[in-house]
Amino acid sequence: MTHVLLRHRDIPNINTIDVYKKNGGFEAFKNAVIKMKPEEVTNVVKNSGLRGRGGAGFPTGMKWQFMDNKNWPHYVVANADESEPGTFKDREIMEQNPFQFLEGVALASYAVGANAAYVYLRGEFWQVAKFLDEKIAEMEEAGFLGDKLFGTDYSLRIYTHLGAGAYICGEETALLESIEGKRGQPRVRPPFPPSFGLYGKPTVVNNVETLTNVPLILSKGADWYKSIGTADSAGVKIFSLSGRVKKPGNYELPFGKTFRDLIYGEGGGIIDDRPIKAIMPAGASSSLIVADDKALDTILDYASVRTLGADLGSASVIVIDDTVSIEWVISKTIHFFKHESCGKCTPCREGNHWMLSVVNRIEHHHNPEDVELLLNVAKQMQGKCLCALGEFATMAVVTGIERFPQDFKA
Ligand SMILES: Cc1cc2nc3c(=O)[nH]c(=O)nc-3n(C[C@H](O)[C@H](O)[C@H](O)COP(=O)(O)O)c2cc1C
Repeated sequence: MTHVLLRHRDIPNINTIDVYKKNGGFEAFKNAVIKMKPEEVTNVVKNSGLRGRGGAGFPTGMKWQFMDNKNWPHYVVANADESEPGTFKDREIMEQNPFQFLEGVALASYAVGANAAYVYLRGEFWQVAKFLDEKIAEMEEAGFLGDKLFGTDYSLRIYTHLGAGAYICGEETALLESIEGKRGQPRVRPPFPPSFGLYGKPTVVNNVETLTNVPLILSKGADWYKSIGTADSAGVKIFSLSGRVKKPGNYELPFGKTFRDLIYGEGGGIIDDRPIKAIMPAGASSSLIVADDKALDTILDYASVRTLGADLGSASVIVIDDTVSIEWVISKTIHFFKHESCGKCTPCREGNHWMLSVVNRIEHHHNPEDVELLLNVAKQMQGKCLCALGEFATMAVVTGIERFPQDFKA
């Protein structure tokens, strides 16, 4: 199968506008603006079964339909914060196949009637932002962005915006606050961004990978996209594979392959052929899965991974073998979330602080009661935080202690 998203692996120089155009680039956008009503574009995306690739897997077309048409202007924001540890797919898309992503932003903007779209990138991606600025300028020059596009009344500008290196700014409402120039902290919801988003106006926030699917869905049709993948999860997904595997990297696969296919097929198996112990399917935010045969034969789609007591999230699969202690893994995740908690809500701010103190105590004082205490603190945080960061912080802790007790006894 040829790639749908990582098309630069099949088509050299697709990151130049001429090669992109020669391979059908911008035809979907031009066709949509000239021949389709905005709601028709949304319907195609809805019928394709595309779900958000930023983590939550929310149906994309449905999100676009939620935009409040009584309140204008509308905005589109591409979430290029890519800050989940273990996730490195959006960067490859933006650097290697930038026009397909930007065409996806343009199609989403046309579908929801937005005349301005923002690409919000993590601060460390400043070179990527500079590169995208050049690509946006080329699109303007070629007449794919600007005023009265293709002789119609539709106008669109795309702007990049850099964050300052805070994980929380990947959370969509903290991201919107950050674009507005405020401290990046999550908003209380509801209202959700499609009714109250950027500058209080209806806003669609979508992940880079989500949007990069859209041009081919429009040009090849919803049925084509739906025919790839599983009934639960249509299409393709980029899996960022890392940890103790021989061949880490990004792998674009149709939904429906197994963990075994990904780790032993694409990834070449475990370093030194050691036994696999655990899988984190969604970066540092993951629940820890015991990597037994049942797990390895589980299908990679949103519903199937849930049967293992975990979420697929952004599909940043971190592989852990028998050389790694789960206690060490959770001390790393706790350290990360303690550092990244924005401090706005008490359960996340205080909970992460205490989890870090207790995990440090476990490492230095070896008191078994501290393991119970850590589990207790994590469970008290669950369901009480303002946004999912606090929830994410507890996932590896609770599942690590409950599913790998031998590592804590040791
Ligand atoms: C703490 C936190 C960090 C997040 N980081 C990202 C991120 O880096 N990139 C991303 O696309 N979504 C991230 N999300 C999810 C976004 O809030 C949002 O759901 C997503 O951008 C929606 O796009 P989608 O529907 O295309 O998936 C994060 C969520 C939370 C709670």
